Amino acid sequence: MSDGFDRAMIGEECWIRSTDQTRRPLPTRRWLGTSDHADNPADQALTSCCDGPTIDLGCGPGRLVAALLRRGVVALGVDISPTAVAVTRFRGAPALHRDLYGPLPAAGRWTYALLADGNIGIGGDPLRVLARTHELLAVGGVAVVEFDRPGTGMVHRRLRVETRTSAGPWFPWAEVGIEQAAQLAAATGFRVHATAEVSGRHIAWLQRHPMDTEVLR
Ligand SMILES: C[S@@+](CC[C@H](N)C(=O)[O-])C[C@H]1O[C@@H](n2cnc3c(N)ncnc32)[C@H](O)[C@@H]1O
Repeated sequence: MSDGFDRAMIGEECWIRSTDQTRRPLPTRRWLGTSDHADNPADQALTSCCDGPTIDLGCGPGRLVAALLRRGVVALGVDISPTAVAVTRFRGAPALHRDLYGPLPAAGRWTYALLADGNIGIGGDPLRVLARTHELLAVGGVAVVEFDRPGTGMVHRRLRVETRTSAGPWFPWAEVGIEQAAQLAAATGFRVHATAEVSGRHIAWLQRHPMDTEVLR
């Protein structure tokens, strides 16, 4: 089932509310790729290493999938939101309306997997997200993962998406500081290849171990 991000995917002004009653605006314009602030360098950093088949897990409106296709890279978006998938396809980029834990094509053969804009926090279970990403990647493949700022730790929340006129269902999410990358990687069959801060966003490149290791599930 979609988690209420649909309204954000068409650029509607949205907020994310936590059960502690804090509320912050969602970067809907950044997701659509229409914002003109300094996000392009971060988007470029997320995709620049991708020179082979790339799966974007929780692709939102598909700007990264579209950017990869423009460079001639085979790419596929996956999202649980039907609106996100429709917008991605409207851009001319392929996307599947699926849960990332459902059956996906070419499992075990992708060269890159993107977890952009905090998607390691999907479902409130970063270990499960990374273990699933490990399954999807080929040996030696790379997960490009956006974390939260250093010092965030591992914060489990229940969130919902709100607009001026509606509130979606509560769903679990995790905020994960980049300092957690090495530990999470080691627990899920990856090693940290590199990390970078770009325009205030924190990215880690996690390489799937050349040999299969026991993966935490
Ligand atoms: C924070 S947004 C990030 C969107 C996109 N990666 C970007 O950077 O623009 C999270 C996205 O993950 C999707 N999502 C959440 N849970 C999912 C799941 N289990 N499987 C696939 N997509 C999921 C949401 O619908 C939403 O589009």
